Amino acid sequence: MTQAPESLDLPTADTQERSLDRDCTTLSRHVLQQLQSFSGSAQDLSALMNRIALAGKLIARHMSHAGLMAGALGFTGEVNVQGESVKKMDIYANDVFIAVFKQSGLVCRLASEEMENPYYIPENCPIGRYTLLYDPIDGSSNTDINLSLGSIFSIRQQEGEDLNGEAKDLLASGHKQIAAGYILYGPSTMLVYTIGNGVHSFTLDPSLGEFILTEENIRIPEHGSVYSVNEGNFWQWDESIREYIRYVHRTEGYTARYSGAMVSDIHRLLIQGGVFLYPGTLPKPEGKLRLLYESAPLAFIIEQAGGRATTGHMNILDVVPTKLHQRTPLIIGSPKDVAKVESFIQNGH
Ligand code: AHG
Ligand code: MN
Ligand code: MN
Repeated sequence: MTQAPESLDLPTADTQERSLDRDCTTLSRHVLQQLQSFSGSAQDLSALMNRIALAGKLIARHMSHAGLMAGALGFTGEVNVQGESVKKMDIYANDVFIAVFKQSGLVCRLASEEMENPYYIPENCPIGRYTLLYDPIDGSSNTDINLSLGSIFSIRQQEGEDLNGEAKDLLASGHKQIAAGYILYGPSTMLVYTIGNGVHSFTLDPSLGEFILTEENIRIPEHGSVYSVNEGNFWQWDESIREYIRYVHRTEGYTARYSGAMVSDIHRLLIQGGVFLYPGTLPKPEGKLRLLYESAPLAFIIEQAGGRATTGHMNILDVVPTKLHQRTPLIIGSPKDVAKVESFIQNGH
């Protein structure tokens, strides 16, 4: 047998063990590691994340073939509770989350952008007592043109009985979230989550069909060069936001990036820093984004990474909604960049 020359950089037993260990750090294992426990609630959370990962894999698979399948792309012809035209992909992804949690024994209720009222799974209620809030497809306008999309999720423990289905217990601040995150469907599929102990990212390895740990304890930069906003709304904003935008236009070192899917835009900020804004407009002072399943979960992620999220007047996580589909202005990202926008809103400069 020919011997490998000694200078060749062959894997040692140690590096091989480390790389195998990394390959085995799946999402469900990571949750248990984070909680340092095998208690019932730790197992629940691990199983919940595993199911969310399954939903992400199903949606990613569907998207990767959508252009080749009849009836996967385009509009359904319906308008959702938000008054927005619904895409077939929105409905597919909404149904995936329901199907994944139906027989899980974990989630009693699902509340989504695409459903006026929560979806109940009564057989799960005595055991599970968790609620999943989600935006099945974030960035729907990117669906038919093969650009990045996302899903956003937030898990809350049910409080109270919610017997009449009004979901009043959901009308509580974002501090009640026990887990939150997003799935980003880009060149690769990534899942980013927090359970209140830092932010961790996973990449889907299609050959394994598993999300494998990519980065632990991600920290958002204090400041970044990117500002991410739909400047088409310029003349509908309050003067303070217009002044902020004029400030970045005349200041060296800023660059604009806006994808139409805030999961992508916020993922960029998480890694490279900067700020994302969706302020209120004259016709819609509360803005576009929904508090419970868009702004609050992303605020939880960004705060856990060392960033900030505000309406301009209060922290997103402190906002107590009065209705399920409540909207809120959102300014989110690196702490210094969010503070700059805030100072324009509060002090005019
Ligand atoms: P959704 O597709 O869930 O309705 O959310 C789209 C959101 C957000 O992802 C994006 O940043 C923003 O709406 C885009 O809105 P505009 O086209 O008004 O800029
Ligand atoms: Mn959305
Ligand atoms: Mn959506």
